[in-house]
Amino acid sequence: MTTTDLPIILPELSEVTVEDFLSSETTSQEIVQRIHTLKEKLRDKVVILGHHYQRDDIIQFADKTGDSFELARYAANLSDREFIIFCGVHFMAETADVLSGDKQKVILPDLKAGCSMSDMARTEQVLDAWEALSEVTDTKKICPITYMNSSAAIKAFCGEHGGAVSTSSNNKFLFEWAFTQGFEKIFFFPDQHLGRNTAFYQMGIPLDEIVLFDQSQGGLGGLTKEEIAKAKIILWRGHCSVHQHFQPSHPDIMRALYPGTTVIVHPECSFEVVKKADLVGSTSFICKTIAEAAPGTSWAVGTEHHLVNRLKKENPDKFITTLAPYACECATMYRISPEALLGILEDLDKGIVKNQIVVGDSDKKWAKVALERMLEVTKKAG
Ligand code: 13P
Ligand code: SF4
Repeated sequence: MTTTDLPIILPELSEVTVEDFLSSETTSQEIVQRIHTLKEKLRDKVVILGHHYQRDDIIQFADKTGDSFELARYAANLSDREFIIFCGVHFMAETADVLSGDKQKVILPDLKAGCSMSDMARTEQVLDAWEALSEVTDTKKICPITYMNSSAAIKAFCGEHGGAVSTSSNNKFLFEWAFTQGFEKIFFFPDQHLGRNTAFYQMGIPLDEIVLFDQSQGGLGGLTKEEIAKAKIILWRGHCSVHQHFQPSHPDIMRALYPGTTVIVHPECSFEVVKKADLVGSTSFICKTIAEAAPGTSWAVGTEHHLVNRLKKENPDKFITTLAPYACECATMYRISPEALLGILEDLDKGIVKNQIVVGDSDKKWAKVALERMLEVTKKAG
């Protein structure tokens, strides 16, 4: 749970603003026009969803933008479009496929748009871990909960074992729900940071009842039987490779550079970064909080830099900077390019469906159970 701080030289930061990290997104007007034309032509059949981390030259075409929870809920209620083009990453498209109707097809414009955190929990590892735990404790008393950022197979595992899915906007509700169902422990995949931040900061669970299961060690993940017996929360050893770049020194640096700055971060940031932040929440929480803030306020934002940059453009009456002194970009989200989107639309116009994401029937059944539990619990928590 320790985080190594990177050495930072303060004076170099004095001029840092998010523009310094902008990649040049120079989509030609011809491509933009062709996408608009095809979108209009196919508008009765196609809907385009865009996660907040997508680049602006994709967001401009999205019919709906949102955080992973909002987009999942939206996909669950979409019945009038045959094709859902998901501008996000693979696990989001899988979720849309699980929750959308049988006749709908979900398309990911670039199949290489994965998520390294999701890849950190592989099915066979989770099954091995569960088996190892069953030798030292009653797994019927453990609720497996997986962050949305995981494969459909892991979601299915959770659904089949009485558990659920959660997102950064509702993790606390799902943790509380698990305990009200009579479970004594939660096994949370794959993001250790979201799990620890929720359990400690939002629910007051002591750190010695939150343990880290290191799957790379095999067996009990480096834990003793006693540690497992005492634990309320068992965390999978996964993290977001983008948010891990935010360091505990960054809030101090930004506050020194910009006195009065409010530090707002995503809960995928480490425990130490969240400790120093003023506010913590999902991408939509970050957008809403800044949009509703008073003019003239100042914000240092700890999340993916395309979103930070968009916030800056949308809130010209506020000072907004990224929390880190370098770009924290999600390279896989970035793979969804206007060229890829255009290619998908051109094919659909010719009746060709490429890059369809299909979750197999057995995973779909149980992943749906886990996702519907999440939707229900969140609705009730309201
Ligand atoms: P949100 O749940 O805030 O959309 O975050 C999703 C994600 O992938 C963050 O890394
Ligand atoms: Fe995955 Fe992190 Fe990218 Fe989110 S920001 S999609 S968790 S790698």
